[in-house]
Amino acid sequence: MTKLWGGRFQKTAEQWVDEFGASISFDQKLVLEDLQGSMAHVTMLSSCKILPQQDADLILSGLQTLQQKAENGELEYSVSNEDIHLNLEKLLIDEIGPVGGKLHTGRSRNDQVATDMHLYLKNRVTEIIELIEAFQSAIVEQAETHVETVVPGYTHLQRAQPISFGHHLMTYFWMLQRDKERMQESLKRIDVSPLGAGAMSGTSFPIDRELSAELLGFSGVYQNSLDAVSDRDFILEFLSNSSMLMMHLSRFAEEIILWSSEEFRFIELDDTFSTGSSIMPQKKNPDMAELVRGKTGRVYGNLFGLLTTLKGLPLAYNKDMQEDKEGMFDTVHTLMGSLPIFEGMIRTMNVNTASMEKAVNSDFSNATELADYLAAKGMPFREAHDVTGKLVFTCIQRGYYLKDLPLEDLQAASPLIEDDIYETLLPQTAVKRRNSLGGTGFDQVHHQLGLAKKLIG
Ligand code: ARG
Repeated sequence: MTKLWGGRFQKTAEQWVDEFGASISFDQKLVLEDLQGSMAHVTMLSSCKILPQQDADLILSGLQTLQQKAENGELEYSVSNEDIHLNLEKLLIDEIGPVGGKLHTGRSRNDQVATDMHLYLKNRVTEIIELIEAFQSAIVEQAETHVETVVPGYTHLQRAQPISFGHHLMTYFWMLQRDKERMQESLKRIDVSPLGAGAMSGTSFPIDRELSAELLGFSGVYQNSLDAVSDRDFILEFLSNSSMLMMHLSRFAEEIILWSSEEFRFIELDDTFSTGSSIMPQKKNPDMAELVRGKTGRVYGNLFGLLTTLKGLPLAYNKDMQEDKEGMFDTVHTLMGSLPIFEGMIRTMNVNTASMEKAVNSDFSNATELADYLAAKGMPFREAHDVTGKLVFTCIQRGYYLKDLPLEDLQAASPLIEDDIYETLLPQTAVKRRNSLGGTGFDQVHHQLGLAKKLIG
């Protein structure tokens, strides 16, 4: 089949060579954005008197027909037309005749493809922001129910200090808040029109780039034509923001997996977000959380793939840049799958408060309370730490927890200790008293929840 660019060629490539160069198998995802870009371009051409109104109208109606067919899944693409841009141009000419060939006046596939991707990402990032917010609201809901549920807090995965489970959950809210803000801020750089940059140097036609940008809903235009067609920073930024978001989901996933193990028994995932084993009848596996953790790898891979593709490229467009798409689509797909899954998993999970209570009452996570108690009574904290450490050692030897030690033993370690120590050692007391700003004290967690709710509208 002759190519739309075939004029200077004497021979045509074989099918398998065409297949290697073609992007239509994946860039057909940009069909609606490509049509939208073409409509804005042709409207601008006629408004600038570059195309007669009559031609522009014909082209516009042809593009609308293609849009309808695209929405109904009726467009047929061919590998020999390489990519979505040439496929649509060919289909337009088939639809309305040679006048369709006027559409490409004053533009190139280079500014066209960049425009498509800006449009595509602008919409997807907006949708992803909404998904992040829905997930944040699920976290707030669970956190609110569990402000006063006390669990051991960990450092080094060793029990450290008792905390509010709501406080623990809210950590992920704030991570997601930063992810959401990064996505929102990135829109500033996505929301820019490359259209009209031509192949690389602009065009001799008296086009109006601001008009086509406005028609497409972009807030601004690229100020340098080479930059407009060579820039893929906006995709890298999306992949980088997505990598960080997935890293957060993956950390959360890891905790969900740990908490739902027999060893922790802190939560039980709903049946609808769990899977069984084909051989072990007793199994209930946290597959969804594991998959999100696993999929984090491919998102990092997409970021590194594109960074590496771009690193040695001279200006301006190079065909290497066609490799920017699959990783972007895959990342969008991964985020759009992972966020609602996680949201559902968190909304429906059952929190095993009895196990948490048991855990926090049978450990040494209240040791800091004893040290703080002594320090508050005037003992230098370093000394209080040492006295408490020795008492912990005594307990371990005798098979006790601090709260089980008789008062005489405690007083033998320090006469500053009085009967009120037992109240101080209670996990609930320990948490309640950590009322410093942003601490796990119940009042602070309520305060934090109030702020959070304002951020998700
Ligand atoms: N399919 C191409 C891509 O995705 C479109 C731009 C092609 N431009 C060119 N000069 N070959 O990058």
